[in-house]
Amino acid sequence: MRIEPVPALVGHVAVPGDKSISHRAVLVGSICEDKTLISGFGRSADTEATLTAVRALGVEIEEQDVDTLTVHGVGLRGLSAPAQALDCGNAGTLMRLLSGILAGQDGRFELVGDESLSARPMERVAEPLRRMGAQIETTDGHAPLVVEGAPLAAIDYELPVASAQVKSAVLLAGLLAQGETTVIEPLPTRDHTERLLERAGAAITRRPQSVSVRGAERLALGEIEIPGDFSSAAPLLVAAAIVPGSALTVHGVGLNPRRTGLVDVLERMGARVAVYNRRSIGGEPAGDIEMRSSELVGTTVSATEVPTLVDELPLFAVAACHAHGDSLVRGAAELRLKETDRIDAVAEELRRLGGHIRATADGFRIRGVPARLRGGIFDTRGDHRLAMLGAVAGVSSREGVELRGAEAVETSFPGFFHLLEQVKKGLDG
Ligand code: S3P
Repeated sequence: MRIEPVPALVGHVAVPGDKSISHRAVLVGSICEDKTLISGFGRSADTEATLTAVRALGVEIEEQDVDTLTVHGVGLRGLSAPAQALDCGNAGTLMRLLSGILAGQDGRFELVGDESLSARPMERVAEPLRRMGAQIETTDGHAPLVVEGAPLAAIDYELPVASAQVKSAVLLAGLLAQGETTVIEPLPTRDHTERLLERAGAAITRRPQSVSVRGAERLALGEIEIPGDFSSAAPLLVAAAIVPGSALTVHGVGLNPRRTGLVDVLERMGARVAVYNRRSIGGEPAGDIEMRSSELVGTTVSATEVPTLVDELPLFAVAACHAHGDSLVRGAAELRLKETDRIDAVAEELRRLGGHIRATADGFRIRGVPARLRGGIFDTRGDHRLAMLGAVAGVSSREGVELRGAEAVETSFPGFFHLLEQVKKGLDG
């Protein structure tokens, strides 16, 4: 796909529902006692995989609309083992969170994923779940996974790495365990699971560095509305920040502070950001976020900030390429374990477009040049976040970008290119 440079990005848009929360709403809805009405569901290849998986486990789901679903929960221990493997596709969140739920069900479950997911570490969930009493086999630390459910006992678990997926897997298993399970986090990660479980009536105790859940009797969500996905808004916001003359507002987007580190970092770089209509959507902070273009200056993203913008660090890299002065990202080695090695991939692909960026062991080092990147060929390597990065680099380039593997956006945001077209200034006068 060819991405042409644009003069500016202007307009008002909304993005589909948050992917992290969409997975969680369906998974938690499926172990509720009764039905859950989900609105604002973010439909994508990843969240479709979740629908398919819970259906295979015996959960009925009615799709009223593209973004409205009713999940007929089967109760905390009501999932039934299918004969075939559960295909998690490209979705790490699905594989890891579902493992936590299956650890306490009756039966034997096999979880498989695509090539990228099968290369990602799974011992990080298997290990704590085994400690709780489940039998879990990985394939050399990876998928395919086999989970044999068992009566679970609560544990206190200190996460070796900051990971919301691992935290969530342990908390979900904790719902099915005898006693109180505690997860201690090295750094705060996204807390969508905690918020949703509290809403569903679970006994959650939150402390600055840890969270506990008691074994539950029953869960009920009732209705849940999902805010727009900040991670899907982010590429549009970054493009607006760096393309002169832009003014773009994304409405109804989730603004959970554990997700919006990119806003803080861009503000520090001199971006002109404003948030209007702050409100709560489905128990999550949300609002309308406006970005106007400005001159940016380089900055350092420290290890403590990383979890709050972990999926946006590739976008930070392209913003930093356009800034005055140097930028640095530290403490982000986890990026090497995402859908691709996002440290090497981002550095190599942006360098091919003319960016001055180097990979380090745990991040990037960038020399900013406050001008458009040259452009050229950008290979997404099948990674959705790279596809959106390539598109941002393309619209803000001098010569445009030949985006190879653009269809990777299907993973999280199938309508991305359509929305990008809508905000290109000058298309419809
Ligand atoms: C996610 C957590 C993050 C993030 C991923 C989604 C989640 O991963 O990168 O895209 O929904 O819990 P970690 O498990 O590394 O925090």
